[in-house]
Amino acid sequence: MTEIIEAIKRSAKRIAQEIQTTDFGYHEGTNESGEQQLKLDVRSDLIIEEELAQVSSIKLLASEEKSDPITINEEGRYLVGYDPLDGSSLVDTNLSVGSIFGIYEKSFNGPDLLASAYVVYGPRVELVTATIKAERFILQGDDFVYLQELALKDKGKINAPGGTQKHWYPHHKKLIQSLFEEGYRLRYSGGMVPDLHQILVKGGGLFSYPGTTDKPSGKLRKVFEVFPFANIYEKAGGNAIDDLGRRLLELPAHEVHETTPCFFGSSYEIQKVKEYYGQA
Ligand code: AHG
Ligand code: MN
Ligand code: MN
Repeated sequence: MTEIIEAIKRSAKRIAQEIQTTDFGYHEGTNESGEQQLKLDVRSDLIIEEELAQVSSIKLLASEEKSDPITINEEGRYLVGYDPLDGSSLVDTNLSVGSIFGIYEKSFNGPDLLASAYVVYGPRVELVTATIKAERFILQGDDFVYLQELALKDKGKINAPGGTQKHWYPHHKKLIQSLFEEGYRLRYSGGMVPDLHQILVKGGGLFSYPGTTDKPSGKLRKVFEVFPFANIYEKAGGNAIDDLGRRLLELPAHEVHETTPCFFGSSYEIQKVKEYYGQA
């Protein structure tokens, strides 16, 4: 496990450098989710593959940018699912982007996730890992320096509502509206890494990416995005559920690119989601 975290740190430093120097143009091609890939998506994917391929305890690697998992070592114990550059469509605007990692054993199902991590490339480069606790590190020079344990309060002040409002279901609109009426503030960049990081650092709130009329299963992918953050939120004392009120980490992944509606937050906001979704 330590070896994997070390490889993630090496990847993060290389990707941070790559963001500074690579142009923001498109690569010719789309990924499995049908999204156009940037050169940076492809470069970040290669960097992570190169670094993780050096870790002999890894059996399989699954990437948002690859159709199928690749084998690293048949005898390895761990399976790693990663999103090399989340929010890459924001990179031309100079908003923050990130990398997300889920470390699994046996399968890519939620219950088999052992640990997770993400990197934020913003004005600073930060790493958050969740093995036993959720811990925050900041890149200073060549080292990730420990900053703090991340812990959510029971209730926050931030509302980060994903998806296209035009396609929200009526009960979802009511949930979001009710949080604003309680005084919650809109904080949404369109990159799940900085949006979820902000809630963790400020101590609470709700990030939602619901199922919508055009995408009933939502947009965010279980293996690369949803399960890793569900683990981090739970380790920070928060909750992470789907639209049926189930713990995200109890869900299976039938294939690595499968998506799910998802809600991450502190306990008060997650209870509200359950009420508005008829699961309380
Ligand atoms: P990616 O850049 O890896 O494809 O993922 C972006 C994700 C996530 O960061 C964000 O919350 C969501 O897509 C926003 O998508 P829409 O703007 O399409 O709603
Ligand atoms: Mn993503
Ligand atoms: Mn991505």
